[in-house]
Amino acid sequence: MSASIGKVLLTHEQIVDRCEELGTIISRDYQDKNLVIVGLLNGSVPFLAELVKHISLPLRFDFVRAKSYCGTTMRGKLELVHDLDLDIHGQDVLVVDDILDSGQTMSCIATMMEEKGAKSVRTCCLLMKPDVKKDYEVHLDYCGFEIPNEFVIGFGLDYDELYRNLPYIGVLKLD
Ligand code: IMP
Ligand code: MG
Repeated sequence: MSASIGKVLLTHEQIVDRCEELGTIISRDYQDKNLVIVGLLNGSVPFLAELVKHISLPLRFDFVRAKSYCGTTMRGKLELVHDLDLDIHGQDVLVVDDILDSGQTMSCIATMMEEKGAKSVRTCCLLMKPDVKKDYEVHLDYCGFEIPNEFVIGFGLDYDELYRNLPYIGVLKLD
């Protein structure tokens, strides 16, 4: 089976415009706070890089890499294989990822940030799929776009580690 890029769901311009809107809202919400943005490697990189350009506050950012254990239950476990360098104790953490699907990744990482002593933890994803509420109770504080339940690639999202560099979001086509 070979893979290719199907229809374009979100153009580069739409994504940048939405990052500008989110950045404005985040700048307002985090005034007088100590903002630390925590990105999930690798998928959050293009979104985080665009988003921070539109946040007009002093901020720090750092990254974690999580590995999931696919068990027999829905609620698998997540382990950090690359941890933060920054000390987030007492800081206002905003966790950023590319997409919220089941919500497992976000809910696990948010809990880990609370356990590390963050003063507050909020969540932000470029994309959200509709089924999210079914599996995990995770509240997304900032969402770029709600998309249909299709496998998407680009702007950080991969298929077999490819396509992360696309400047837009497309639907994966398997032939
Ligand atoms: P969750 O833990 O089920 O919410 O899944 C989130 C993770 O699944 C994301 O960080 C992505 O790596 C991956 N993922 C979910 N849907 C897609 C998709 O449509 N394209 C690429 N990766 C996806
Ligand atoms: Mg990912």
